Amino acid sequence: METKLLSGALGAEIKGINLKDTSDKNIKKINDLLLEHKVIFFRDQIINAEEHKALAEKFGPLETHAYVKGLDDHPEIVRIIKAEDEQNQWGENWHSDVSYNAKPTKAVILKSIKIPPVGGDTCFSNMELAWETLDEEIKEKIKDKKAIHSSLGAEFFIESYKKMEGNKKRNYDEYSNEHPIVRTHPETGKKILFVNWTYTKEIIGMDKKESDEILKKIFEHQSRLELTCRFTWTENTVCIWDNRSVIHFAIADFYPGRGLGHERIMDRIAIEGDHPV
Ligand code: SIN
Repeated sequence: METKLLSGALGAEIKGINLKDTSDKNIKKINDLLLEHKVIFFRDQIINAEEHKALAEKFGPLETHAYVKGLDDHPEIVRIIKAEDEQNQWGENWHSDVSYNAKPTKAVILKSIKIPPVGGDTCFSNMELAWETLDEEIKEKIKDKKAIHSSLGAEFFIESYKKMEGNKKRNYDEYSNEHPIVRTHPETGKKILFVNWTYTKEIIGMDKKESDEILKKIFEHQSRLELTCRFTWTENTVCIWDNRSVIHFAIADFYPGRGLGHERIMDRIAIEGDHPV
């Protein structure tokens, strides 16, 4: 096995692991790599939908998305199709997937189907490191506080969901939940900064003005480039990210008006998480 780090902060590209092997031994190896690097990438993985699901199921029950319909044959797989002329990009800002749910996603297994010749990278940021390096005064103010996460906080996301190809309108109701700002990783016991620009709206028990100011500082801090890694996709790459300990940002730099106008297709399976504590 070969491991190539993507940055000093997080992320690794792994060679020499067969993702079709779902034996307990192989899954433990993958999970250990995931906990160590927080986001891991495997290039040139020719796996079909069943194999994609079989791999994901080893990490826990699969999740369905409140707003987005999965594939007809495989409802657990959301096909994220960004058409050549589409202006919106799914995931186009820092976020942790569905943090507005009572039990936000544990991990995501994303497989690239079609990648633009240029652009369309995804960035990840390490929220364990973000907590460790956060200003001490802010830490003191927020360490025992909770924040509200809301699905409708991010209008652009809802617009993207509506436009997604094959997505029959389900509902666009609001989902909202409170979570500790600092959560403890259930597997590593490490502290994690669990807020994100897209969905976190307000710190509970704090004056709104102060809450806005502190959240703004935290959002700036958690997107500092030295906490991040950036991955340039090739087709048939499988990425697994620990959605509890990273935030991510899919860069939409391949559209008309911004650049080039290329299609990008990804298959996404999410694994159910637990109540953050
Ligand atoms: C996402 O934000 O869930 C998708 C990330 C990507 O398409 O790179």
